Amino acid sequence: MTGTGEPVVRCTDLARTYGSGPGSVVAVAGVSCAVLPGQSTALVGPSGCGKSTLLHLFAGLETATGGSVDWPGTGHSPWGRPTEVGVVFQSPSLLPHLDVLENVALPLVLDGWSAADARARAGASLDLLDLGRLSRALPDALSGGQAQRIAIARVLAARPRLVLADEPTGQLDGTTGAHVIEVLLRAVDRAGAAVMVTTHDPRVAARFGGVWRMSEGRLLDSPDRATDRDTDPAGALAASNASATGARA
Ligand SMILES: Nc1ncnc2c1ncn2[C@@H]1O[C@H](COP(=O)(O)OP(=O)(O)O)[C@@H](O)[C@H]1O
Ligand SMILES: [Mg+2]
Repeated sequence: MTGTGEPVVRCTDLARTYGSGPGSVVAVAGVSCAVLPGQSTALVGPSGCGKSTLLHLFAGLETATGGSVDWPGTGHSPWGRPTEVGVVFQSPSLLPHLDVLENVALPLVLDGWSAADARARAGASLDLLDLGRLSRALPDALSGGQAQRIAIARVLAARPRLVLADEPTGQLDGTTGAHVIEVLLRAVDRAGAAVMVTTHDPRVAARFGGVWRMSEGRLLDSPDRATDRDTDPAGALAASNASATGARA
């Protein structure tokens, strides 16, 4: 079921511990929150506080060891992974022997699209990011900022309802990184997708509609708690949090 006002991801008392016994590491603990359609959020906190782990849990790439996470506003694969959540990693990881258009089209082909349809949709996604002129370029010819914008186009080609990006500017200089963030924000806005980016750069965080702070595995604020938001007095608080954190829908 898609296209509803339901959260694109929602979690309750979510936890992820690595290992067991005395050497175990609690990466995420007791996180309850919801990401609403169209919302734009920066997830900030010191290195090791659990940002990447939480993002991977939101993406269905990591298994929870406690609590629950679900995706009421998106479809699911037979394996339970959300189908409309896209992930941008710190490194663009383009395949060097494929040109830009083919790199952007490849996940669609792997997802069962015909080559012609995948190329058409990839071209539209590149145009959305004003990158159409680079379609025939090979990754070697791209700057770091261009490569990361292509990686964003590759994610958006699948028309996700939520884009998660883990330190997407971590390998770029400040100016290039700022440009990539502007491009990302404009593209998700045009596409109507929600976006969450982890960063420890306050200038990057300031560009987002809302900022969620993490410390030692926990969210310091209580952003957009989805539970009972329509029925109890906390619902009003959740709704005001939603607008304060930049929900566009
Ligand atoms: N695969 C893993 N195995 C063991 N410990 C991990 C693993 N991934 C992350 N951790 C630990 O979990 C904690 C949170 O890590 P992470 O989510 O990467 O934080 P951040 O992204 O905020 O830097 C850290 O203590 C880290 O060392
Ligand atoms: Mg990290």
